[in-house]
Amino acid sequence: MEKTFLMVKPDGVQRELIGEIVSRFEKKGFQLIGAKLMNISNELASEHYGEHKERPFFGELVEFITSGPVFAMVWQGENVIATARQMMGSTNPADAAPGTIRGDFGVTVGKNIIHGSDSPESAKREIGLFFNDSELIEYSKLSNNWIY
Ligand code: GTP
Ligand code: MG
Repeated sequence: MEKTFLMVKPDGVQRELIGEIVSRFEKKGFQLIGAKLMNISNELASEHYGEHKERPFFGELVEFITSGPVFAMVWQGENVIATARQMMGSTNPADAAPGTIRGDFGVTVGKNIIHGSDSPESAKREIGLFFNDSELIEYSKLSNNWIY
């Protein structure tokens, strides 16, 4: 089954949106297989956002993502990578549709509440950066019989 890496950013944690965000993915029918509240080191932040190293906002991005705890998660489900991105909404909350997480809770691009892997390659890389195999739990969920 497809897996993705999702993370409530420091602004989402401070604004007490962990429960709201977890609830949206649960209600959708996806399955949580790993989660932890953690601080991100400068090294992990630079590695995670490596693709943006040359962008003018890179320093700001690393400073922000290391500014307080994040809630890191791995979710599983059919098409979960693309569907989670749709549920998150556009990168800039100003462009994000109402009903999406960024559309409902975000205002500025620098504090856009949530991160989600953008491809199967990113998902594999990011899950490996944030979680050990022993932290990911494979278990059967009865509601899957009513989703698939
Ligand atoms: P992530 O899920 O966080 O990776 O967002 P994304 O995939 O929708 O966007 P992208 O990977 O292109 O950018 C990564 C993050 O950089 C965004 O989520 C924003 O928080 C931040 N970012 C993008 N553009 C800007 C910008 O112009 N200024 C600042 N401060 N941050 C930006
Ligand atoms: Mg991205």
